[in-house]
Amino acid sequence: MTRIVVLISGDGSNLQVLLDQAAAGQLGGDVVAVVSNKAEAYGLERARMAGVATAVLSNKDYADRDSFDATLMALIDGYQPDLVVLAGFMRILTPGFVRHYAGRMLNIHPSLLPRYQGLHTHQRAIEAGDEEHGCSVHFVTEELDGGPVVLQARVPIFAGDDEAIVAKRVRVQEHAIYPLVVRWFCEGRLVMQQGNVFLDGALLPAQGHA
Ligand code: GAR
Repeated sequence: MTRIVVLISGDGSNLQVLLDQAAAGQLGGDVVAVVSNKAEAYGLERARMAGVATAVLSNKDYADRDSFDATLMALIDGYQPDLVVLAGFMRILTPGFVRHYAGRMLNIHPSLLPRYQGLHTHQRAIEAGDEEHGCSVHFVTEELDGGPVVLQARVPIFAGDDEAIVAKRVRVQEHAIYPLVVRWFCEGRLVMQQGNVFLDGALLPAQGHA
């Protein structure tokens, strides 16, 4: 079984879907631990309710990014993961950390990458007048929100939509595509090599909008 460690900072609704599918035997892997940089993250409660180990490592206790990431890496590696899943983990990771998990760390981002890297993606899409928005699952590389995209889901933005309704619409799609990609990885079907992503041995076309 693929051993999965999930990193969160907040609500953990994506984590919940992964926990549910793992419990139902549909993920092809086990969530062996959930790590948060925020003690108050509700996702920790979700993990406890699922009987999954939890750990909190507050970045506020560390003087700099390097020392926090080094401790985080040691903590994660203690669980011997095959895959690290970022599910609303709101921290910029150092290059050394990212390199350590190269090809075995996934992230979900609430935009159609490469559009709207960074924060406030829904508000920025609304303000730009976009009629289409969405979310992307990608392998994590040293470039922030810039790693190769595995799968995207699209949603419409309608006139008059506010940030909350767009976020809700996107979140539904996140819950559909993230477990799917995690399962592909767990089944050994999804591989990143030298920045290219292969599914079932076939090179995935680079996704994304201009
Ligand atoms: C999700 O929308 C995810 O795409 C986003 O945080 C939310 C976490 O929700 N991640 C990022 O913005 C990463 N840059 P959740 O805690 O309910 O899963």
